[in-house]
Amino acid sequence: MTIRLEGKGVTVTFGDMFRKVEAVKNIDVALHAGQTIGIVGESGSGKSTLARVLAGIQVPTSGEVFYEGTNIWQGKVSYPGEMRKKVQMVFQDPYGSLNPRMRVVNAVAEAVKFHQNADGEQARQIALDLLERMGIAKNDAIKLPRALSGGQRQRVSVARALSANPEVLIADEPTSAIDQSAQSQLLSLFSELIAGGLSVILVSHDLGVIRYLTDRVYVMESGDFVEAGDTAQIFEDPQMEYTQKLISSIPGHKKLKS
Ligand SMILES: Nc1ncnc2c1ncn2[C@@H]1O[C@H](COP(=O)(O)OP(=O)(O)OP(=O)(O)O)[C@@H](O)[C@H]1O
Ligand SMILES: [Mg+2]
Repeated sequence: MTIRLEGKGVTVTFGDMFRKVEAVKNIDVALHAGQTIGIVGESGSGKSTLARVLAGIQVPTSGEVFYEGTNIWQGKVSYPGEMRKKVQMVFQDPYGSLNPRMRVVNAVAEAVKFHQNADGEQARQIALDLLERMGIAKNDAIKLPRALSGGQRQRVSVARALSANPEVLIADEPTSAIDQSAQSQLLSLFSELIAGGLSVILVSHDLGVIRYLTDRVYVMESGDFVEAGDTAQIFEDPQMEYTQKLISSIPGHKKLKS
């Protein structure tokens, strides 16, 4: 199977000469075409930092990222030219990534203009269609981000990312801070996208969501992968105590063998 996105020896160190945080330590990760992988781990374990490196937003201290075998960094630019469309990211904090003064339909239309060969009215129509697919009707699409719920904003971010028709979607906590019904809507949306061939990297605290959507799970602790495996294996027969603890914290999950 083709490897779409691959990180090799990815390391990210934050801080200065006095205090250093090794957020990501020499990690190898590969996403195959049509695959959905989950990245799980406690808060601060480095999930978002790794996701940002794979999306070309964070420069790694060392290591490399390849999109279909091509290094994503060409000089100081990541994902140059046509490569940009291929990999899109939905951020952990969609509020922070939306312009507070721009109506959400315009925010999505702007992305449509950037990624597709569409002009004003046509781009707006494509944006409205995309938002509708995400369950955001026109009367909400014309609102400012602050007038939407957290779940709606998260779906606006997904719509904006999808406007590029990406091959890979990197979603950082897409279901956090939203209620059960918004969550199940987003889940069925993701299932549809995955069935349509999208490859996905899903970062989530919600192990129920990870179990439902992914094929393979990477378990992260203090910047390192401590365990990786097929989703069924990770949930049914986790090898590491750290993973067992993460899984046993799922509400309603049966007690694991001791
Ligand atoms: N820009 C930054 N500058 C300095 N330290 C940072 C920066 N971004 C992240 N860190 C540190 O790197 C480590 C990993 O952070 P990261 O955000 O990747 O964790 P996470 O697994 O996504 O956590 P959460 O589950 O809470 O979102 C943490 O110790 C964090 O404080
Ligand atoms: Mg995070």
